[in-house]
Amino acid sequence: MRVALFISGGGSNMLSLVKSMAQDHPARPCLVLSNRAEAGGLAKAEALGIATEVVDHRPYGADRAGFEAALQDVLLRHAPDMICLCGFMRVLTEGFTREWEGRMLNIHPSLLPKYKGLHTHQRALDAGDSEAGCTVHEVTAKLDDGPVLGQARVPVLAGDTAETLAARVLVAEHRLYPAVLRRFVSGDRRPVLLA
Ligand code: GAR
Repeated sequence: MRVALFISGGGSNMLSLVKSMAQDHPARPCLVLSNRAEAGGLAKAEALGIATEVVDHRPYGADRAGFEAALQDVLLRHAPDMICLCGFMRVLTEGFTREWEGRMLNIHPSLLPKYKGLHTHQRALDAGDSEAGCTVHEVTAKLDDGPVLGQARVPVLAGDTAETLAARVLVAEHRLYPAVLRRFVSGDRRPVLLA
C-alpha cells in the first residue's frame, strides 16, 4: 500500500505516520505533497528520503478544480493507493473527494462532530468543555464529516490556553493517526478509541 501524505505546515503528523510505516507495516510513504513551498515538513520528508512535491494553490485563485487537477497530475506520477491529510489546510471539492472516497483520511483537532472547521481549541475552551481531543475520519464531500475511524481524548486543564490545549491534543494526534492508519490498511474500519 502506497501512501501520499498532504501537508501545509510543520508536518508533525506526517512524521509520526512516516515513522510508523516501517518493518512489518503493510504501507509505505510514497510522496509528501504540500500546497506551500515554505512548509517545514517538506525538509523533514526529504531528510527521510521521501519524494516531495509542491502544488501552490495561490496561482489558481478561486479555480479550485484547476488546483485539484494539478494535484491529480502529481498523484498520477507517484501512484499512491491512498492519501493521508496531515494538517493540509485547503478545502477539497466534491470532484476530488469523490475520486478518493474510501481511500483518503484526515486528522482533525477536535472530537468530531464538535468543532468542524478552524479554531477548534479556542471553541472548546469557550464552551467550557472538560475534555478535548482529535479525530481521524474518512474524507467525504462535506467538510470534517466522513465516517470516524478513531478518536483520542485529553483533559482540558485549569488555566489552559488555545496553545497549551493544542500542544496536548497534538501529542494525542501522534498516537492516534498511526494507530488508525495501521488498522485501516489492514482493512479494519472499526474505530480506534484512545483515552
Ligand atoms: C494538526 O493539529 C492537525 O490536526 C490540524 O493541523 C495541525 C497540523 O500540524 N489539522 C487541521 O486543523 C485540519 N483542519 P502538523 O503539521 O504538525 O501535523
